Amino acid sequence: MAAPATTEEILEVNRRYHDVAAVGYDSKWGVDFGAVGRAQVLGKVEKLLGRRPGPFARSLEIGAGTGYFTLNLMQDGVIAAGVCSDVSPGMLGALRANAERLGVEVETVVGDAAALPFEDGSFDLVLGHAVLHHLPRLERAFAEFMRVLRPGGVLLFAGEPSRYGDRIAALPKRAGLAAAPLWRRAVGARAAADANGDGGQPDDHLLEGLVDVHAFTPRDLERHAAAAGFADVRVRGEELVANMFGWFNRTVEASAVHEDIPFGWFRYAYRGYILLQKLDGALLEPHLPAAGFYNLMVTARKPS
Ligand SMILES: C[S@@+](CC[C@H](N)C(=O)[O-])C[C@H]1O[C@@H](n2cnc3c(N)ncnc32)[C@H](O)[C@@H]1O
Repeated sequence: MAAPATTEEILEVNRRYHDVAAVGYDSKWGVDFGAVGRAQVLGKVEKLLGRRPGPFARSLEIGAGTGYFTLNLMQDGVIAAGVCSDVSPGMLGALRANAERLGVEVETVVGDAAALPFEDGSFDLVLGHAVLHHLPRLERAFAEFMRVLRPGGVLLFAGEPSRYGDRIAALPKRAGLAAAPLWRRAVGARAAADANGDGGQPDDHLLEGLVDVHAFTPRDLERHAAAAGFADVRVRGEELVANMFGWFNRTVEASAVHEDIPFGWFRYAYRGYILLQKLDGALLEPHLPAAGFYNLMVTARKPS
């Protein structure tokens, strides 16, 4: 399948892929809304904003997906009123179901990050996780973030793949592909393609390889924020070993029929990831430059 060339094509593959990915997204990516997920999200936000961030009266999340950031931050009282936007109606449907289950009230709005249907100065915080790398019109999107923030408002994005980290991720993916047949035999799972000849998934799942359009250097993120007029721009890196572990596991898992994979494997993969995340945070993040990590995070402020 050819890579999408135009803005409209990029938006369309993102919408179609994330619509089908919404089902099973939380279990695939270990998105959690209990104590572990809340601690994870709060930990990320505190890395940039310091201890006890906020509270923010009204926030807008870009590419909110199933609600990982906003719903967890609302449960922790960091955000009082949350608005969640996404180009994928399917993702926002899953988000509303999560919100209802958790008893959290949120507003959801379908749309592209580069054309936000909100008044100027409507939000105290504009945030996102793992979304900037999908956006075809980054300059316009940053200009929109600036417009909808109130003066003094905070911008915060985390979980953006670094250019270097993206290359590093190729290693565990290759190792996962090589190890997959042996791994499937060890856990007693059939190969995905054996189930019905197409991996058992609807076609739009195949768009996964086309939805990522950027990987960033720290300088790229600083430049985008500064060009939109943001002040106090800061970028830092996080996670390295945890992501290598995660990519290996996701690659072998993707090679198998999902229902055949024993629950114990998922528990091992999830707990291992959380443990390595802590090790990355304690041992590597204080010492390596931001560019050396798998993920980048950026914060900035709209001048008062
Ligand atoms: C990798 S997922 C991350 C979801 C969620 N933030 C999380 O961390 O679990 C990326 C999300 O960005 C959304 N997205 C992609 N392109 C977008 C765009 N142009 N405008 C708004 N959202 C977009 C996708 O639909 C998807 O929900």
